Amino acid sequence: MASQVIALVVNDEEREFIAKPGTSLLSGLRDSLGLTAAKRGCAQGGCGACTVLVDGKAVLSCLLAVETINGATVRTLEGVAADGQLDEVQSAFLDGFATQCGFCTPGMIMAAEALLDRNPDPGEDEVAEAISGNHCRCTGYRPIMNAIVDAARRRREARAAAGAPARVSEEVA
Ligand code: FES
Ligand code: FES
Repeated sequence: MASQVIALVVNDEEREFIAKPGTSLLSGLRDSLGLTAAKRGCAQGGCGACTVLVDGKAVLSCLLAVETINGATVRTLEGVAADGQLDEVQSAFLDGFATQCGFCTPGMIMAAEALLDRNPDPGEDEVAEAISGNHCRCTGYRPIMNAIVDAARRRREARAAAGAPARVSEEVA
């Protein structure tokens, strides 16, 4: 099979690049588009460092052949902050000391974003499940778990103050 043009909407921008068959989404993001927040850890689906959102769902971008998602909407950590302002998850990670070496952090944050998009008030079990595929060698996970619960609270309060529905999905329903 020949290389093909891949068109994606990445962080609200239409992007195109040429990819050989079997090129992973992670390679497309990092090597073709220069978006290096998603990390290449194991490149075998075992660490979660490459987690990004595809059409709103958290995926391991190292395992996803990019030609299978041509036309999809992708969100990476680069697209989380708006107008230079950290969002609730990023702020809670920062304030809660939920990052040490930082290698796992982009994947952790994207897994948390996917969780909070579908569940604005997750319990600890749901948080643990949401990051169960994301490995952290530094923190012992407790600060990360606390930060995600705190981020959920911050987001609920911000959305309530703005008179917005609790879930993103409720806005488009
Ligand atoms: S780099 Fe994708 S799961 Fe480790
Ligand atoms: S902060 Fe180092 S791997 Fe998680």
